Amino acid sequence: MEPMFDNKRLLWLLALVAAFLFGPYRSPADEPNASQGTERKLPPGELGRLVQLGREIVENTHDHPLSKEFVGNSLDCTSCHLDAGTHPEAASFLGVATAYPAWSPREKRVITLQDRALNCFMRSQNGTRPPVGSQVAVAITAYITWLSTDQPIRMNPDKPLGPNHVPPLEQTTGDIDRGKTLYEDNCAYCHGDNGEGSDDGPPVWGDESYNDGAGLSRVPKLASWLKVAMPLDDTTLTSQEALDIAAYVNSHSRPKFRLQDHLPEEGKAGVYNGDGR
Ligand code: HEC
Ligand code: HEC
Repeated sequence: MEPMFDNKRLLWLLALVAAFLFGPYRSPADEPNASQGTERKLPPGELGRLVQLGREIVENTHDHPLSKEFVGNSLDCTSCHLDAGTHPEAASFLGVATAYPAWSPREKRVITLQDRALNCFMRSQNGTRPPVGSQVAVAITAYITWLSTDQPIRMNPDKPLGPNHVPPLEQTTGDIDRGKTLYEDNCAYCHGDNGEGSDDGPPVWGDESYNDGAGLSRVPKLASWLKVAMPLDDTTLTSQEALDIAAYVNSHSRPKFRLQDHLPEEGKAGVYNGDGR
């Protein structure tokens, strides 16, 4: 009688099992978003509560009671750091904490993760820098750090960017006229004909948008982000289309950035992070 599993059959069976386990049929828990972020276990106690608070602030920055006074537009961190920073490509927070402290050519200093997060309030959020050590600062930093759980530290000596940052495009210039048509066809139904935003997307130019000191106010930076982030859930733009649209979006007016207007008042740049006794 033939054995039920000769070597050949056994190999086929193993291949089948492997294809099932490692093939395209992955359970939701294996999706990159889940395994790299959202399904992560919260630390116990007060630390876990703070991580959770940080996520709430990142998702609702312009409206949250702890952060709204520091925000000068209608954006939230998650407007650009999609899915509260757990999107693997669109200005991802995954792995970001491993890059800090990092050298920042803009500040000409080595900066911490907390510095980097707070600086986004001055530019992308067109607001004021919250005090170092304040609850909002520590909560956001705790949340972003938690998203790097188990990843090795590799402090970045060149720029304040993590391992999954948006890769720059090869070209750098776009055509505003072509961009206008592309914007009207691909973006206006969510962001409005005049960039004013709608229920389906935040403003992309004007007073309620990021200011001209923000990363996205530079055409190549906006284009590289658009390519991996927009149109939301349907990222099909070519590099040239992304550049054309970016040139058009950034040809409109937005708040002017003057560092002095965005720094905290004298003596309010930091607080003692303790109970005061
Ligand atoms: C208008 C868009 C926008 C908004 C709003 C915004 N950011 Fe950013 N932020 C960016 C972009 C673009 C980068 C560069 C990311 C890249 O190149 O991958 C960045 C970078 C960062 C980094 C460094 C990432 C790294 O790879 O090291 C941190 C931390 C950060 N932002 C935190 C925040 C926080 C916290 C908020 C909310 C208070 C916020 N950002 C709001 C666009 C924005
Ligand atoms: C289906 C609706 C939709 C479409 C289409 C769309 N977006 Fe967005 N966009 C959004 C939403 C929603 C956000 C904020 C993400 C969040 O909060 O989760 C966003 C965020 C943005 C941001 C960063 C935040 C801000 O408002 O400055 C920019 C810039 C942007 N989109 C530009 C574009 C451009 C350019 C296009 C066309 C190529 C486009 N979007 C197409 C819905 C859309």
